[in-house]
Amino acid sequence: MAPILLACYMSGAGAVAAAGGMTARYTRAFVRPLGSNPAAATRRAASHQQTRHMMMASASSVAEGKQLDARVHTGHHKNNVPVALSEKIGRELHRNPSHPLGIIKDRIEGYFRERAATTGVAVEIVDNFFPVVSIVNNFDDLLIPPDHVSRSPIDTYYVDDQQVLRTHTSAHQSTMLGKGYEAFLVTGDVYRRDEIDRTHYPVFHQMEGVRVFPGLLEKSGSREEGVKMVEKDLKDALEGMVMALFGDVERRWVDTYFPFTDPSFELEIFYNDEWLEVLGCGVMQQEIVRKAGKGETLGWAFGLGLERLAMVLFQIPDIRLFWSTDKRFTDQFSAGKISKFSPFSKYPPCYKDVSFWVDPVAGFNNNDFFEIVRGVGGDLVESVVLVDEFVHPKTGRGSKCFRVNYRSMERSLTNDEIDVLQEEVRKQMAEALKVELR
Ligand code: PHE
Repeated sequence: MAPILLACYMSGAGAVAAAGGMTARYTRAFVRPLGSNPAAATRRAASHQQTRHMMMASASSVAEGKQLDARVHTGHHKNNVPVALSEKIGRELHRNPSHPLGIIKDRIEGYFRERAATTGVAVEIVDNFFPVVSIVNNFDDLLIPPDHVSRSPIDTYYVDDQQVLRTHTSAHQSTMLGKGYEAFLVTGDVYRRDEIDRTHYPVFHQMEGVRVFPGLLEKSGSREEGVKMVEKDLKDALEGMVMALFGDVERRWVDTYFPFTDPSFELEIFYNDEWLEVLGCGVMQQEIVRKAGKGETLGWAFGLGLERLAMVLFQIPDIRLFWSTDKRFTDQFSAGKISKFSPFSKYPPCYKDVSFWVDPVAGFNNNDFFEIVRGVGGDLVESVVLVDEFVHPKTGRGSKCFRVNYRSMERSLTNDEIDVLQEEVRKQMAEALKVELR
């Protein structure tokens, strides 16, 4: 498993970046077209549908007596947002100046404010947009194709048939441009259905940066020349930002692909003996700028994951820690200061395996399973690993075995309490996922 990326993790295919790693979903994952096998896709969708209904049923009993946010829990049949997840909305970790995510955000904003003072173009800074956005803003505006895998309800949380929990802060590019801002930073919580390990969490934080250059095209003589100038400004700005965070580290630019930028790049730095991807960026696709009402104006955009940066800079070993309210975590940080986290203890793990036969018609989607585990175990679940998989030679039935690793970051767990959780996981799996437990 590759280490944390910035804010874009690599969906399904493993690896990278939940911790802010945004890029993989829109780069490499892009080559996995949704529904390349239409029959299988229909089956997947149908099974997903059932799963969701079962899970919503149990989720609503969990939620009894709780005030659910009607903006998120619409009751629409496409809604697949678990209650445990929507409860994270409103925590706004990135707006707390003495939380590691807030500290990094403030530092980056400070850097861009200072830079703005030299360019004379003010930067609009936003960090309180609600995470429910339209499908148009999250995908269409950004030229993400209709069959792109990131639109699947297997990967994305739908609020209803028009809205999702934003999967990236790029969802705000078009509206901010449309309002007339020439330079802006938008930070917020973003949501993705994903695997479970120390760098992946279904909600994490991104910062988007955009700058457009009215008049530059005219001055530069040709679009090609203009794009070169925009690319240079983008790279200067971002290398400066990285130095403001990490000091004078070794850096390299890697060509990549995003539907919304061309050319597109990732910035990597050499830190703690390895190359680490820090952000995705590029020159904005002209069609996006044009549709936002800015004509042929040239511009750049970048997106970065705050958890990924914070895990490296503060040496925070597990993404769940960001959500901890334990004073032994929260009291270690103060506004404006990047400091090394000292782990208060590593409590012993407790693991449980679950093996089952997959229903050949319903199929099986790992993310549905991960969500059940998260729903039952919450932040006690450290990771879930596929330990065995085979197809029975005679019956042709598929078998899987997952290991659920439980570990609290705050106390020792007892085997008995974990048995209770694991039993509940098995029960919900049998009900919702149509598997035959072994
Ligand atoms: N939105 C992209 C992601 O989440 C990151 C990005 C933003 C890339 C802006 C280019 C420009 O992966």
